[in-house]
Amino acid sequence: MDSLKTALEAFPSRFPALRDFRYFEQTDSTNRQARQLGQAKTPAPCLVVAEGQSAGRGRLGRRWESPPGQGLYFSLLLQPQIPAERAPLLTLATGLAIKRALENFGVKDLVVKWPNDIVIQGKKVGGVLSEMETSGSQMLFVILGVGLNISQKKSDFPPELQETAASLEQLYPGDWHRSEVLEKILGELFQEIENLEADKVDELLKRWEGESGFLGKKIKVEKSGQQLQGMVQGLDPEGHLLLETAPGKIVTLIAEDTTLI
Ligand code: BTN
Repeated sequence: MDSLKTALEAFPSRFPALRDFRYFEQTDSTNRQARQLGQAKTPAPCLVVAEGQSAGRGRLGRRWESPPGQGLYFSLLLQPQIPAERAPLLTLATGLAIKRALENFGVKDLVVKWPNDIVIQGKKVGGVLSEMETSGSQMLFVILGVGLNISQKKSDFPPELQETAASLEQLYPGDWHRSEVLEKILGELFQEIENLEADKVDELLKRWEGESGFLGKKIKVEKSGQQLQGMVQGLDPEGHLLLETAPGKIVTLIAEDTTLI
């Protein structure tokens, strides 16, 4: 097993922007730990990494399977210098950072399924859970939580996930080192955050449209109790998804769960 702990010790010199980090062999959820650190006013950015999680959380109240040593589970506590309403863009930026990082390891067919899924060959390999703490209209901190399936075999997933989820090793057999993947993602992610803090929002949205692999895909989605199908057209200036459900009819999705068809 590659040593995440040793790699982490080198991160403060490797990433000057990183102010602090925490390592857990086992925790409930790195997002929950990061929230506690944020509430305790820990200097940010602070990286929280765990070998395994007993209560890993996904979007929409789902559970994130987090077997020890088989996945990458981390959360970045941030106090980004951006207006609170732009915080959702950090989720999109994180998806792109993951895609770019994994391309360094030879992954060629990754789709960032809006808003937060990492999909390869139709299987969910990872996801991003972003959370924000505010006081009135002021953003106190943001947590970017990332889960990536690295080395699970099909039988390691619960039966109900075996057809829809996969690990990087299943799809791209080889020696996957979680510490190397984490280092590449962080490098890309700090660059994305810097760009957003420098107001490069249009650039992010254009890059997401160009690089996510999601444009032109046919999807289905439930919105306000209605089943919709359509083709992905792009993003609006807030990062919401524009879906063409009939010629010329565009529906805007805010944070719904989309399914590729
Ligand atoms: C999703 O696809 O629903 C998002 C999954 C995010 C899982 C990660 S694992 C590290 C961090 N800690 C958590 O409890 N969740 C995120």
